[in-house]
Amino acid sequence: MKEQILSYLSPAYPWKEHFHFFPSIGSTNDHIRALAKSGAPHGTVVIADHQTGGHGRRGRSFHSPEGVGVYLSILLRPQCAPTELMHLTCATAVAMCEAVEKAAGFLPGIKWTNDLVSGKRKLGGILTELGFTPQGKLDYAIIGVGINVRQQPGDFPEDIRDMAGSLSMIAGKDLPQAKVAAAMMDSLHTMSENLLTGKAAMLDAYKENCITLNQDVVLVRADEKRYGHAVDIDEEGALIVQFADGHREAVNSGEVSVRGMYGYV
Ligand code: BTN
Repeated sequence: MKEQILSYLSPAYPWKEHFHFFPSIGSTNDHIRALAKSGAPHGTVVIADHQTGGHGRRGRSFHSPEGVGVYLSILLRPQCAPTELMHLTCATAVAMCEAVEKAAGFLPGIKWTNDLVSGKRKLGGILTELGFTPQGKLDYAIIGVGINVRQQPGDFPEDIRDMAGSLSMIAGKDLPQAKVAAAMMDSLHTMSENLLTGKAAMLDAYKENCITLNQDVVLVRADEKRYGHAVDIDEEGALIVQFADGHREAVNSGEVSVRGMYGYV
């Protein structure tokens, strides 16, 4: 598969030498973190055909069977303060939408902040993390993306079958993983070039594609559920939620469900 991915990459892609492919691995994010700590360069990419310990946000596992998905992590070493990277997950979501459009011919939606969706089905997710030097300066950023490419409904475990989808299901044809992987790599390269200078355009694209905006949402934190309306996304990627009494809050973390999705009715 590595050769196939390389053959789909744009000729201008500059990091071919720093691309590692594994038929099977624990987690590409864990592996690239180890590479980052041993000095791997900006632009290092790890892709696996199968993960035995793929994980997502909040310690959840990310189902990563072989032969059907793209499990990718990229290491970036942006020359900036960590506070300038608050939008990293949003920028990645926009880049991944562009990659899917290029490889699969349709533009997915973004469920704030890090899910790629089509209708009510999740097609993929993004997990970002930052690493720091002992002096507290930004050392690296890791972006992990998992996208379901070739699954049919029966391939998903029963508990997520009604909520999960793949690019091939939506496109109505079997799509090669390598084509999707290469489009993701090209888009992540372009995103990294514009990461610090193209924030406004990125945010516009994010808002345009974000299915959470202008929807009723429920905010779940610990045992508490609060109901509001998503009215905006700020320049750091926080969701602005308005509550019944009119006050607004910028939401950065916690679980946000959109009415009608993933079981919230
Ligand atoms: C989520 O849906 O919460 C995020 C899922 C992120 C999964 C990707 S797959 C590649 C990389 N390696 C991991 O262990 N996780 C990310």
